[in-house]
Amino acid sequence: MKGTSYSKVPTGIEGLDSMLEGGLPKGRIILIRGSPGAGKSIFCSHYLFNGATKFGENGIYVSLEESKHQLFREMKLFNMDFKSLEDENQVAFIDASPIRHSPAETKLGNIRVGRRDFSLMALGKVIQTKAEEWKAERIVIDPLTALSLQYPDDLRRWEMMLDLLEILSQTSATCIITEDLRAPSLAGEIPIEDYAVHGVILMQSLDMGKGAVKTIRIVKMRESKHDDQTRIYQIDEGGIVVYPTTAWSI
Ligand SMILES: Nc1ncnc2c1ncn2[C@@H]1O[C@H](COP(=O)(O)OP(=O)(O)O)[C@@H](O)[C@H]1O
Ligand SMILES: [Mg+2]
Repeated sequence: MKGTSYSKVPTGIEGLDSMLEGGLPKGRIILIRGSPGAGKSIFCSHYLFNGATKFGENGIYVSLEESKHQLFREMKLFNMDFKSLEDENQVAFIDASPIRHSPAETKLGNIRVGRRDFSLMALGKVIQTKAEEWKAERIVIDPLTALSLQYPDDLRRWEMMLDLLEILSQTSATCIITEDLRAPSLAGEIPIEDYAVHGVILMQSLDMGKGAVKTIRIVKMRESKHDDQTRIYQIDEGGIVVYPTTAWSI
């Protein structure tokens, strides 16, 4: 294969797009795995916010953990005003977080689904409809963990994953799904999700002896050149900034 076969979608996150040789591969699905508090939701928000404000691309935030109110309030602290993006029809928010709390049933848009038989297809339908309606070019699902925990069986989870990826790829948007890093995978076991997606980015908080250091690594990005080093990033009031420093040089 000659060169890169995909055009790139910049995340707009300082320092990251150069690691990605321009950005995420257009129309593909990327998994971001990270420890709780690593900044996955901030990452997703940056991606959609920059998409809307810098690159003229509409987005959809599918939240399986935080309510719209929580997320909008938190992101305002990083100078990302999602309320006005929503008012301008640039970013749509699908609040699927009640799924985690409601024992009986929950409402996704106009569709009512029971928790027990909560169907991925119902969520998929809402995503599809919204994606068309909003002409979304960027979609994030944050975090998938809330959904995958309902499928403890590997085979069922694999099927769920394939169904979800099918729904997302039909939208032709460039998609991010996030997942909590539970136990450090020292055993070298590769989660099944990694085989199904186009790319995997790992965000971790490592104890380097002098306190915690946040690191980011592009684990895989099919058919695309990328930086394979573990780099340092920080979160401050401007959000996420990735530094050229490698984790081994500090
Ligand atoms: N004002 C701030 N300055 C620096 N770091 C912050 C600030 N606000 C939040 N953070 C960091 O952001 C993290 C939360 O990010 P979030 O995207 O919600 O994580 P995740 O979704 O991966 O659980 C916190 O753990 C904290 O380290
Ligand atoms: Mg989060």
